[in-house]
Amino acid sequence: MTELDINWVRAQFPAFSEPTLQGQAFFENAGGSYTCKPVIDRLNRYYTQRKVQPYGPYDASRSAGQEMDEARTRLAAMMGVEADELSFGPSTTQNTYVLAQAFRQYLAPGDAIVVTNQDHEANSGPWRRLADEGLEVREWRIDPETGHLDPAALDDLLADGKVRLVCFPHCSNVVGEVNDVAAICTKARAAGAVTCVDGVSYAPHGLVNVDALGADIYLFSAYKTYGPHQGIMVIRRALGEALPNQGHFFNADALYKRFTPAGPDHAQIAASAGMADYFDAMAAHHGIAGDAATRAAGVHDLMRAHEEHLLQPLLDYLTSKNSVRLLGPTRASRRAPTVAIATQTPAAGIAEQLVPLGIMAGGGDFYAVRALQAQGIDLDHGVLRVSYTHYTSEDEVAKLIGALDKVL
Ligand SMILES: Cc1ncc(COP(=O)(O)O)c(C=O)c1O
Repeated sequence: MTELDINWVRAQFPAFSEPTLQGQAFFENAGGSYTCKPVIDRLNRYYTQRKVQPYGPYDASRSAGQEMDEARTRLAAMMGVEADELSFGPSTTQNTYVLAQAFRQYLAPGDAIVVTNQDHEANSGPWRRLADEGLEVREWRIDPETGHLDPAALDDLLADGKVRLVCFPHCSNVVGEVNDVAAICTKARAAGAVTCVDGVSYAPHGLVNVDALGADIYLFSAYKTYGPHQGIMVIRRALGEALPNQGHFFNADALYKRFTPAGPDHAQIAASAGMADYFDAMAAHHGIAGDAATRAAGVHDLMRAHEEHLLQPLLDYLTSKNSVRLLGPTRASRRAPTVAIATQTPAAGIAEQLVPLGIMAGGGDFYAVRALQAQGIDLDHGVLRVSYTHYTSEDEVAKLIGALDKVL
């Protein structure tokens, strides 16, 4: 397979040539990534040339509406779904909140749902609150030592056929392990349940084909995936049409409007087409051809291969260090480069010590409070998290390891 051209990649991100960011290696990408140039250019163009009510008859308005549609259409094609199965909301947290209101009306007392204690709170709390309506909430629990979510344990939770919805992460933002989404969705479907997959921590490492995965709902956040601050939701048609509409009554026939009651952020939605520009440019630069889903899959594999190659030395270094506990898998092939470690002193303090060493990282709970508690992490200490993406270079990872060695 072709190798990722890291110099080309970095040239697509203005942050890497921004003077105020020089000398600092960015390792808090799971919190929010740098933005690629096509997104910034489109945002700038929208605000300067098209900042009018979209979908009207005049040129500026027509261009604005077309660009919003373009974003939805191109990203949906890359993810193997229809354009109206993809919608934009203010954030993933807001999107799950709205979806939970829809399920509140859709499910009946006596029905059960499954949530995990591996998830970020965004794909956990809103669902757990459905217990107030008399729904049974079953917790699919991680292994306290490894953080692993065992698909075999799901069988027991599904056995009585009462479960109608299974919510779980593609990848936890503190454990980092990549869950076998396709296998889990197959199990859930066989038991008569639909699935809601939090892809926020996975999507920055490659867009997925939601059709192939078999998820009924797949969520991610564009601002962690080189785009603007939007939450992106794929809701498959059968489920989206069955769930009660949460938008204006007169918009109920438009699938992509049914679960986004907030007025759309026109400029940011339009600028999201820049994410598709970036992935397509990467495909073209590396000689990846085919339809949109094929190009996206090729880009996914390129990015993953680069990230994996850089990850193993970091994992090996951390596992060799007695003073810290690495959360999640020790093999790069099983995880995303979102690496949380439990430290002997509060993690936020260690993140501060990394600043003069040219490392931007974070310490805390990252809203994965349940996952940290389940692994016996002292929440007052939290974890130090270092996370990167395909645009991170081998030199930066070496610099990170050197810096960690000074402060740990
Ligand atoms: C795994 C995961 N899920 C969900 C969220 C929430 O996303 P948003 O900030 O778009 O609400 C985050 C944010 O950090 C996350 O890391």
